[in-house]
Amino acid sequence: MSTTANIELDGKTYTLPTVVGTEQEKAIDISNLRAVSGYITLDDGYGNTGSCQSKITFIDGDQGILRYRGIPIEELAEKSTFVETSYLVIYGHLPNRTELRGFSDLLTKYQYLHEDMRFHFQGFPAGGHPMPILSAMINAASCFDTDLMNWHWGKRHEFDVYAARLLSQVRTIAAFSYRKSHGLPLIYPKKSYKYTANFLHMMFSMPYEDFELRPEVVRALDLIFLLHADHEQNCSTATVRLVASSQANLFASASAGVCALWGPLHGGANQAVVEMLEQIHKEGDDGSKFIAAAKDKNSGRRLMGFGHRIYKNYDPRAKIIKRACDQVLSALNINDPLLEIAKHLEAAALRDSYFVERKLYPNVDFYSGIIMRALGVPVEMFPVVFAIGRMPGWIANYKEIMEEPKSRIYRPRQVYMGPTLNHFVPIEERV
Ligand code: CMC
Repeated sequence: MSTTANIELDGKTYTLPTVVGTEQEKAIDISNLRAVSGYITLDDGYGNTGSCQSKITFIDGDQGILRYRGIPIEELAEKSTFVETSYLVIYGHLPNRTELRGFSDLLTKYQYLHEDMRFHFQGFPAGGHPMPILSAMINAASCFDTDLMNWHWGKRHEFDVYAARLLSQVRTIAAFSYRKSHGLPLIYPKKSYKYTANFLHMMFSMPYEDFELRPEVVRALDLIFLLHADHEQNCSTATVRLVASSQANLFASASAGVCALWGPLHGGANQAVVEMLEQIHKEGDDGSKFIAAAKDKNSGRRLMGFGHRIYKNYDPRAKIIKRACDQVLSALNINDPLLEIAKHLEAAALRDSYFVERKLYPNVDFYSGIIMRALGVPVEMFPVVFAIGRMPGWIANYKEIMEEPKSRIYRPRQVYMGPTLNHFVPIEERV
């Protein structure tokens, strides 16, 4: 098999090296092309561009395969927990008992925010969306720790502490954002609760009245976190890597990830799916009208929770979530009409040539919102739950870039299409 690629430009042939990944993914290394030929490559939306070599997550979008550090998502969903999977994603191997204990202890130790951060929460208006609060507060957290502000890649031994702090505190900040936006008193984390139970406690307990932690509810939310833990170079993770490449600190990089995640084409899609289903329900449509609108490019509508840049097959996470959705709703004895509409929409879309030809299948967001509704998570918190789940992936990508000896600042190029040389005209001479 050839290990080089030849490219002919302006009558000259350039030989470029190729890279083959451990799962036989192939790439042409063009990093030197401009230096030798004057050409860059142009790839709008980075659809065909590998921005890094990574050892964290493998996706085969044609086959519908997702693995964290080589382990299939189906096995992790069945046998692991979010905290254990986070360790796997961040450190590259499943933890033994001592490692897991140490990691959990760090998460418990660092779950509290600096008390003065409460005043920042007070500054946000009632009803403010929790995503900007989350992003702002993750970034602000670094102001409360001068060591973190001054932390740089040279002090790598402190990474474990900062990683645990971020993973633990994102859950506290997320719950406080919700409580603040609903004008509710803040509930502090409890040392005796595990990761996901603690989040539910901070979200839903009241002073002197603890929220009942039903095991099926805790497990369902833990599963949602786990299924979101990483997804290779998606928009938010690529953002985290981009910011990290300037050697910005871990919290600043993660805060940027939250902003990138917020949009309805990415982590905001779970909120958009439920809003779409609610609208269909309100209009008494069985989904047919919405599907027709989603196919019409002029309608400005899309079938939210459908389609993916990488998956051209059923998203494996959506399969797991769909099953979990049925189980949770039945365990909680909830009959949600939105689930029926969603199943009807899915069946109709999967028969429709528009979706079939474009290989548009349900993605992770199509059913996750229905589970979260059943758990009592308000719709504006859906992307926040996604952000908590994605945190181990962002941290792992940060760690990877930090540990890469030849790491360079990310700096894509462009092809300039604006005016050519022009000159300044004084205002009185302008028409
Ligand atoms: N409804 C209707 N048409 C669609 C949809 C959809 N949901 N998704 C893609 N298409 C069409 C699109 O109009 C285009 O048609 P044509 O070739 O005729 O111009 C074709 O399918 C290819 O779409 P694209 O926009 O070029 O695909 P992309 O890879 O740039 O975008 C996507 C991927 C996920 C942004 C897009 O499928 C989408 O907008 N889906 C709805 C939002 C959504 O569910 N996002 C969550 C993604 S999963 C969670 C995550 O990882 O972020």
